[in-house]
Amino acid sequence: MDTKTLLEWSAKYHTPNYGSRAPICLVRGDGVRVWDSDGREYLDFGAGLAVTALGHCHPRVTGAIREAAATLLHVSNLYHTAPQIHLAKLLCEHSFADRVFFCNSGAEANETAIKLARKYAKERFASDRWEIVATRNSFHGRTLGALAATGQERYQHGFEPMLPGFKHVPYNDLRAMERAIDNRTCAVLVEPIQGEGGVHVPGDDYLPGLRKLCDESGALLILDEIQTGVGRTGRLWCYEHAGVEPDVMTLAKALANGVPIGATLAREEVARVLGPGSHGSTFGGTPFVASVAIATLTTVLDEKIPERAARLGRYLMDGLRALAGTHTTIREVRGRGLLIGVGLGRPAGPLVDACRDAGLLVLSAGEQVLRLTPPLIVDERDCDRALGIIDAAFGKLAA
Ligand SMILES: Cc1ncc(COP(=O)(O)O)c(C=O)c1O
Repeated sequence: MDTKTLLEWSAKYHTPNYGSRAPICLVRGDGVRVWDSDGREYLDFGAGLAVTALGHCHPRVTGAIREAAATLLHVSNLYHTAPQIHLAKLLCEHSFADRVFFCNSGAEANETAIKLARKYAKERFASDRWEIVATRNSFHGRTLGALAATGQERYQHGFEPMLPGFKHVPYNDLRAMERAIDNRTCAVLVEPIQGEGGVHVPGDDYLPGLRKLCDESGALLILDEIQTGVGRTGRLWCYEHAGVEPDVMTLAKALANGVPIGATLAREEVARVLGPGSHGSTFGGTPFVASVAIATLTTVLDEKIPERAARLGRYLMDGLRALAGTHTTIREVRGRGLLIGVGLGRPAGPLVDACRDAGLLVLSAGEQVLRLTPPLIVDERDCDRALGIIDAAFGKLAA
């Protein structure tokens, strides 16, 4: 099928919500590269939307997919399966958590966290303690609970009324958070680095400060590590940079390197409130996806992928900062590990398009931020090539 016909059918048969889709059709991937239906090669510095941490078709992931597909694809959660048990154990052994609930996406993992926080506070404190304080400019997903938690009206517009029980305060502002927490607050929900909202890294005192506020008030600290988790920021979990632990953490994206999965991790005392029958998911943690996630996570651990992300992140950010000397439209380069934002003095869209035309896939975050989230297996040569394309794209747009 030729590309033109495919794009015509896409315009005809899809709901129009992905209006800004690039006019290419991707057919194949290998490592840090993908190819379109016309045979053009691209360096993939988006990794989906920060998903394929181990790159495309990583041999250990592909091997796990093949084996799981040929062994047992799906059984319901009415039965135990070894991969789901092993994955839960692995996650608990490598994080603060004691228990895990599996679902299928980031939004669902956050829905679970919201339900968990409400039920925990009701059982432990009072029946009217069900408010969650989240932050402006955050992104927590598109389902109605996660959308109400999201601090960006543009995503909520048209879908009102929002689920009640959410307050939003400026990000990285402990005083505002302190003022917002009261005896109706059951949880504080934040991203340890705001990803979609523009790659905003909070001050070093922010997470420790939130931990303290939560300890004093009895509110749960929920960290949305859906974008930051699984090594992206240079540690396995982003909270490790801060030296404090959350009560609940949500994961998705990179956890199975592109096979849909979500997970909500919690401390024992908190997790216990999800009693029999209180929550569930048809597809959550099937033997298939759990096997793929085990292969992903063990590879990330065995191959010290977080350390690599930290090193390559520094390399890429240094290169981008060097470009700022020539291109004055670069206002700021920020991020941690391989979650990188380039603040621009202009809309990021034309730059994203120019990079793609030159063979580099990158993302935007908000209106004026270029976001780079390459697979964590990139090397210096890939980064040099990407930097060359970005340099030329800036030059082309300035001309
Ligand atoms: C921090 C964060 N939370 C939640 C989500 C929603 O995840 P999903 O699209 O899998 O529902 C995203 C997706 O970009 C995210 O970055």
